[in-house]
Order: sequence, then C-alpha cells, then structure tokens
Amino acid sequence: MFDINKITRENIRNLKPYSSARDEYKGKEGLFLDANENSFGSPLDTNYNRYPDPLQLDVKEKLGKVKGLPVQNIFLGNGSDEAIDILFRAFCGPGIDNVIICPPTYGMYEVSANINDVRIQKVPLTAEEFQLDTENILKSINDNTKLIFVCCPNNPTGNGVKWNSIKTILENFNGIVVIDEAYINFAGYRSLIPELLNYPNLVILQTLSKAWGLAGLRVGMAFASEDIIAVFNKIKPPYNINSASQKLVLEALQNTVKVNEQIKTIVEERKKISFELSGLWFVVKVYPSEANFLLVKTTNPTSIYNYLTSKQIIVRNRSKVELCEGCLRITVGTKEENKLLIETLKQYT
Ligand SMILES: Cc1ncc(COP(=O)(O)O)c(C=O)c1O
Repeated sequence: MFDINKITRENIRNLKPYSSARDEYKGKEGLFLDANENSFGSPLDTNYNRYPDPLQLDVKEKLGKVKGLPVQNIFLGNGSDEAIDILFRAFCGPGIDNVIICPPTYGMYEVSANINDVRIQKVPLTAEEFQLDTENILKSINDNTKLIFVCCPNNPTGNGVKWNSIKTILENFNGIVVIDEAYINFAGYRSLIPELLNYPNLVILQTLSKAWGLAGLRVGMAFASEDIIAVFNKIKPPYNINSASQKLVLEALQNTVKVNEQIKTIVEERKKISFELSGLWFVVKVYPSEANFLLVKTTNPTSIYNYLTSKQIIVRNRSKVELCEGCLRITVGTKEENKLLIETLKQYT
C-alpha cells in the first residue's frame, strides 16, 4: 500500500517550512511594510516591486479549469525540471535510495538523480518499439526504490507508452510513478489526469514550454494527490514563479483557441515531413511520433548533422544514445521552416 508518510524523507516530514511575508498575511489591500520591498516602485512601467503570490492561486484556478483539477492537486514549478528535482529532494535519501528510469528517455531524470546523489537503475525500453520492459522494471524494484519515471510520449523516441504497462507498474509499486506528459498535447490519446483519482502514487508532469509556446517563461506543472502536492509546496523556494510569468501565463490561458490551432498545424506538419523524410536516400526509418518532433534513423547521422549546421539548421544528434544509433531528433517547425529543412536535406549528397 502506498503511504505518503513512509515514502517522504524524514527530514522533509519534520521540516518546518519557511514562512514568507505573503504566507503570513494573505490580504490584497493594505499598507505593506512587511517584506522589505521598495514601496516607491521600480524603473519599469509595470510595477514588479512586490513579491508574487507564493502559491500562484489565480494561475492555478484558471489552469485547474482547463485541466479539470482543483488547485490543491496542482503544483507549479520553474519549468517541470523544478518538479523533477523536488521529487528527488522530497522522496529520495541521498546515498541510500534509488529510482528506475527507462532509457532512451529525457536526460534530466538522470542528471537530477546524480545531483541529489540518488542511485539510478536503468531498465531500457524495448528495441524499435520503445515500450516499457514491465517484467524487468518490476524485478528491479527493491525496498529503496522510490520513483519510477515514465515519459509518455517519450523524448527522444516520440512514441506513447502502453497504458497496460503503466497500470501494472502503478498497481505493483508502493513508491511514486512519475508520468512525464510534456508532449501530451500532440498525442492522439488523452492525459492520465483522470487516473489521479484511482492511483494515490501517481504524479503527472506537464509543461507550458511545448504546446503552449511559453518555454521562456519557465512554467511547469505537477498534478498529484493533495498530500503529494502539499509535500512539494513545503520544500519549494517561497516565490518560485515570478510575477511576470504569472501575469503572462494568465493572459495566455485566455487563448486556448490559438494554442489548439497551432497544435493541429504541428500535427499535420509532423505527418507531412515524416512522409517526405522517409523518401530521402539516407533515411533508414522515421519512427512514429506522438510529439512535436521526429526521431529519424539515418545512414550517416553526424555527417548530416554537420551539413545541416553548416546551413544554419540545427537539429539534435542523438546517434550516441542507447537504442538510437544513427538517429537525429528533429523538431517540427513552422510550414516555412519545415519546407526549408526538406529542401536542404534533398541537396545532401
Ligand atoms: C520529456 C520532457 N520533460 C520535461 C521537459 C522540461 O520542460 P520544462 O521546460 O517545463 O522544464 C522537457 C524538455 O525538453 C522534456 O522533453
């Protein structure tokens, strides 16, 4: 049985969190002489002289409507990378605990584990299909396994992971299963958010950096039970989302129509360039993608990468990554960018 108290590190369980000025007085009106801010204002037209809402309640309320979740089930981080780091700090004892990751996958899980001195158990995805090796994942779990990361759709392979495998892991693991849905808006299937009601050990990560086009604002999300989100909030830096980002995200959330149009175009373009890339003499395989990028197996990846760079077209060389030998990862751009990419690649000899 999953027990939040059993899995949370003792020092975090006992932690008395920092109490900021804005935690202690939550009213919006008044003469604020409690936070050593500059009451005169800033040199900018928009005043940023006041600290932001530590819990970003306005943004969470709006976001909650889009996602169908109450604010108590939402954490906002300085990118979802912050949520990944917090998962390690909250639940993994340095030098003691371990996590399971399934390469090839998003690199920050491993980097965050290393920063936090947490051992990694790698259970590679199956070759070519890039699905979870459920049997070996379950075999690898021991008393000190605290987190299992599953990226769905996966970066850099682009595919979705079968729900049956995720379900099996959720039901046979007493730690936290983290489903990273950074690319979910481009997928032909739905988010696992509704499953939060069924699985107290599920954490879902999403981000505004991809489909929402707000990578520069650094806003990522974690969705989980109230208990897990409370642990996140306890250890996050007091003002982790700045006022400018909160303001701009609220504005962006008004325009779901534009976001949905862009998603539709990106998905259409993905199909189009996937077809065109498949016809090039040096392309061995274009993997099916549920994301806003394509993994493309080629006969000579580094030479193609260097050629594209010389034409100022920058893609990601993933050919040294386990199970991705020969592969480049190409982000789907605008129609014009994709046209230029294909025209340039056609001239590669
Ligand atoms: C799978 C995955 N998760 C998370 C992130 C990080 O997103 P953010 O910009 O929210 O930190 C990325 C970024 O590329 C990603 O590919």
